Amino acid sequence: MISTRVIATAGCVPEQVVTNDDLSKIVDTTDEWITQRTGIKERHISSGENTSALVIRVAEKLLERAGVEAEKIDLIIVASVTQDYGTPSLACMIQKEIGAVNAVAFDVIAACSGFMFALSTADKYIKAGGYKNAIVIGGETLSKIVDWTDRSTCVLFGDGAGGAYVEASDEAGIIRENIGSAGAQYEILTEGYTECANAFNENKGGVHPLWYVNMNGREVFKFATKKVIKSLEKVMAEENLTQEDIKYFVPHQANVRIVEVVSKKLDIPFEKFYMNMDRFGNTSSASIPMALNEINEKGLLERGNLVMLSGFGGGMTWGTMLIRW
Ligand code: COA
Repeated sequence: MISTRVIATAGCVPEQVVTNDDLSKIVDTTDEWITQRTGIKERHISSGENTSALVIRVAEKLLERAGVEAEKIDLIIVASVTQDYGTPSLACMIQKEIGAVNAVAFDVIAACSGFMFALSTADKYIKAGGYKNAIVIGGETLSKIVDWTDRSTCVLFGDGAGGAYVEASDEAGIIRENIGSAGAQYEILTEGYTECANAFNENKGGVHPLWYVNMNGREVFKFATKKVIKSLEKVMAEENLTQEDIKYFVPHQANVRIVEVVSKKLDIPFEKFYMNMDRFGNTSSASIPMALNEINEKGLLERGNLVMLSGFGGGMTWGTMLIRW
């Protein structure tokens, strides 16, 4: 049976680092509050590069690391909520830049679960046959949709991109997934609203207040813990696994307290959760592939290890994936 294996990973962030102390100069906050409530110490914020610049760099690294020629790429899928344009998709912009002339390229939107949805889609294309490989990337410049006067949200996010090159294989790769959506709750986390203003109505257009990230933090916290716990439990149960069989859990890097709850509730040692939100903040769809890439770059995974990725986000959405390395 055909499986989808992760062959290479890559990540990239803009150079500029913004610390909690830097933020305390523009909004009424402190390093102590941000660290205690979220575990975040600093984040990378774009000095002007748009999302395309970040995802293109990740795609170039993936080609180099996988040793694959661009013309051989069958599929490019990018997850983002901060694309440069409405159209073209970021995936098409990557296609142009790397010269992947034979690829089918498109974007998906599932906010912070975006990479999980994109990887799941690539997996289905590959398993259906006809597509032998895919570049899958999550990338964001959330800094452009954050209200920098709102202390309750602007301290949480960062910019970055991460991705994986995956290939059809006879050996096990992506083993099982659990992804889902709870659209009924979409209002607890929104961004990017544009109203319908035109020449024949009264709407004014321009930047709507709901353009910026708007979040009910407590409700999102509740949603995240509930869904991630259930989703991890389900995937482990369906594969007859316990936490001992898993080398690393790679959670969406939103908040260390969410991870603490999941760790406690499922009795998974906290050290098994790989975390880097202290250095990057919440980079939405980029957070899981950026963390996976760090693990990979550090050589922490051996062939055959089991890794569990799990994210949640706007929509509301969630996604968990069990991968054999
Ligand atoms: N600095 C200092 N004080 C702040 C602050 C900041 N950056 N942001 C909010 N506060 C204040 C609030 O104004 C409030 O003050 P009040 O009690 O005087 O009204 C107080 O801190 C508590 O705010 P609250 O929103 O209740 O805090 P919280 O404990 O729920 O933590 C979050 C806020 C956002 C960190 C938390 O709800 C959370 O992590 N939610 C999940 C968010 C998430 O994961 N989002 C990503 C989705 S992909």
